[in-house]
Amino acid sequence: MSDQANNKLGRREFLGAAAAAGFMIIKPQLVRGTAANSQLRFGILGCGGRATEEGTSFVKNAGARVTAIADLFPDQLQKGCQHFDALQQAMGYAPIDSSQLFKGPNAYKEIADSKEVDFILITTPPYFHTHHLETVVAAGKHVYCEKPVAVDVPSAHHVISIGEKAQGKLSLAVGFQIRNAPPMVELTKRIQNGALGKIGCGLAYYYCGHIDRPEWPNASPDEQRLRNWVWDHKLSGDIIVEQNIHVIDMCNWMLNGHPLKAVGMCDRKIRTDAGDCKDNFNVLFTYPENVQISFGSAQFGHPNFDAAVQFFGADGSSEAHYDWRVNIVGKNAWDAGLKPSGSQEFSAAGKFAGSLDLADSEKEKAFVASITSGQFLNQAALGAESAMSAMLGRNAAYSGKPLTWEELQKSKEVYDPKIDITKFA
Ligand SMILES: NC(=O)c1ccc[n+]([C@@H]2O[C@H](COP(=O)([O-])OP(=O)(O)OC[C@H]3O[C@@H](n4cnc5c(N)ncnc54)[C@H](O)[C@@H]3O)[C@@H](O)[C@H]2O)c1
Repeated sequence: MSDQANNKLGRREFLGAAAAAGFMIIKPQLVRGTAANSQLRFGILGCGGRATEEGTSFVKNAGARVTAIADLFPDQLQKGCQHFDALQQAMGYAPIDSSQLFKGPNAYKEIADSKEVDFILITTPPYFHTHHLETVVAAGKHVYCEKPVAVDVPSAHHVISIGEKAQGKLSLAVGFQIRNAPPMVELTKRIQNGALGKIGCGLAYYYCGHIDRPEWPNASPDEQRLRNWVWDHKLSGDIIVEQNIHVIDMCNWMLNGHPLKAVGMCDRKIRTDAGDCKDNFNVLFTYPENVQISFGSAQFGHPNFDAAVQFFGADGSSEAHYDWRVNIVGKNAWDAGLKPSGSQEFSAAGKFAGSLDLADSEKEKAFVASITSGQFLNQAALGAESAMSAMLGRNAAYSGKPLTWEELQKSKEVYDPKIDITKFA
C-alpha cells in the first residue's frame, strides 16, 4: 500500500480492513527498506510479456511488491525472477525468497496457497484463466486476472459464480485497463450524459500486425502450442476474444450494455503460417435500442496499428483511439487535448503511447486501494459479459449465421486444447 493511501486510511483502519479481507501482513524478512507492514505483496502467475509489463507497473506505480512468482516453464520462471529481483533490488528490496518460486503444472496451486502474498496477478494464457481464477479465489486471495476471463460460454458462466463467492470478501479485477484511462473515462461520462444525443450506430475496430513469438525449435508440438498460445484458438479464444475484446469491452462500457445479436464472417487466408486462429473478423453487433456497431479486425502483416471505437449520434459523434485521438465533434464538441508524441506502435505487452498512458497505473492503484480500504472490487460479471460479447461475435462469424445473446447463453461447447500439462512437471 502506498504511504499516501496508508495516511488516508490510518493504520488502525488499515489493519482492520486487512483482517476483514483475510490477507497477510507483509513479513519484514521478505522485504526490506520500506514500511514493511503496510505494503501489499503479490504473486505473479504466468511470467511472460504482460506479467513483466503489468507487474513492473504494480511495483513502480501502485507501491506493491512481488513476493512470489509461478510459471509452467522453468526458463520463464527464471526470466521473471531475474527481472523482478533486479527491479526490486534497485529499489532496496530483498530478492524473492527461493521458497516462493513455483514451477510446473501445480505452480498455480502452490502460489495460490502461498502465505506470502496478498493478491495474485494472473497472466497465463486465456484458456487457463477460469481455473486459475477459481483456485486463487478458493485460496482466499485477492486477484487481478487478465482478460479474457474465459474462452467458452460454460467457463464464462462459471466465472460469474466464482465472482459471487468473492463478493464482499475479496477484490477481483479483470484486465480491462482502458476503463481507467482518464481521457476514456471523461469521454464515456460525456457520452453517457447525452453529448451525442440519440446514438444511431458506430464502429469498433482493431487492426494490428502479426504477433511475433520466439521459435521453440526443440519443443514438442504441445509445448510449441503452449509457448505460442496466442496463435491457437482453443488456448486463446481466437483473436476476437483474446485481443479485439478490448474494443468490444469499450462498446459495452460506453453504451452501458452488451450486444443482443451478431452476424458476421471471418477468415484465415494470410496468416496461415502458424496456429489455427482466424486472421480477420467482420461482425455487425446489435446493441440495445437497435444501435448497430460495425466491428472489424485483422491480425496479420505489418499494417499501421489502429484500434478505436466511434459512435455517431443525432447531436455529434465521438472517436476513441488507442493513440491521441479522443474527442467529440458536433453540438457538444470536446477534445481530450492529447498530442501525437512518442511511439504510436502497437505493443503486445499492452503498453501504448497517448490516451492509454495512465490506464494501467490508474487501474492498479484503484485495485490496491480497493483492497486496503476494504471496498472490494468485483469485476467477475463484467469480465464474463465482455468475454461473452466477444464470443457472440466469434461464434456468429465462425458459423456465418446470426446469433442472439439468448442463443449464445445456451452454448455447451467447451474449449479443450487436449494438452496434458502434467507432462511438463
Ligand atoms: N490488458 C492488456 O492490455 C494485455 C496485453 C497483453 C496481454 N494481455 C493478456 O495477458 C495474458 C498473458 O499474455 P502474455 O502476452 O503475457 O503471454 P506470454 O506467453 O508472454 O506469457 C504467458 C506466461 O504464462 C506461462 N504459462 C502458460 N501456461 C501456464 C500454466 N498452465 N501455468 C502457469 N504458467 C503458464 C507461460 O510459460 C508464459 O510465461 C493473456 O491473457 C493476454 O490476453 C493483456
